[in-house]
Amino acid sequence: MRKPIMAGNWKMYKTVAEAVDFVRALRDALAGIEGVDKVVCPPFVALAPVAEALEGSGILVGAQNVYWEDQGAFTGEVSPLMLKDVCDLVIIGHSERRQFFGETDETVNRKIKAALARGLTPIVCVGESLEQNEAGQTTAVVSGQVRAAFGGISSDQARGIVVAYEPIWAIGTGRAATAQDANRIIGTAGRATLAELYGDGVAQAMRIQYGGSINPRNVEELMAQPEIDGGLVGGASLKVEDFTALVRAAAGANRPA
Ligand code: PGA
Repeated sequence: MRKPIMAGNWKMYKTVAEAVDFVRALRDALAGIEGVDKVVCPPFVALAPVAEALEGSGILVGAQNVYWEDQGAFTGEVSPLMLKDVCDLVIIGHSERRQFFGETDETVNRKIKAALARGLTPIVCVGESLEQNEAGQTTAVVSGQVRAAFGGISSDQARGIVVAYEPIWAIGTGRAATAQDANRIIGTAGRATLAELYGDGVAQAMRIQYGGSINPRNVEELMAQPEIDGGLVGGASLKVEDFTALVRAAAGANRPA
């Protein structure tokens, strides 16, 4: 049985002071909720203070991006070597990075390998645009992104990687995919592709999240789906009450074994 993972992607929100205040409150709110991995992904500058404020809480910390070199003349970048001291996970290939910052399948693959080499757990984002969705290309696009992301990655490494299926049209729009559609795409384009690459055993062990307008009202139905192993959450991860409801729903999800 896969342990669900609920991760908050804060994007470019919260100052350091706000971030620390927030996680102090979150720490109390999430105490005692078991059976789910809880993750917050603040902006780079807040990673270290957030990690310190969460010490001993069991709440994991993730970054939102990483570069693939450990050090060098790469102005403005942050390396896996630097991140490994302050966080456990890193989001790679979020659609906003693909759209606004030139992230490609190739850079995603390089970043995954670099993160793994330093012991960071990648959360690898894949997902189709509205145009691709309407053209019936969803399965091909998502499956292609998964293949490209995992190129040259061994099955032992793959096992620990988290995939987030995030249809771009559902991100920040208030219009989530239906639970049934999300479940179907994750199964047919996500897990089936991983099974082709690594065999069914590995694919069944890997966690695949859904992301895109998850909120306290739709979370239970999404988390009840057998293929959905938690969520990657933007907007609703910025409020303690909402994120707590999401974590609770993932923990209590009544999924088939
Ligand atoms: P959203 O963002 O929950 O605000 O739609 C999700 C994401 O971008 O990871």
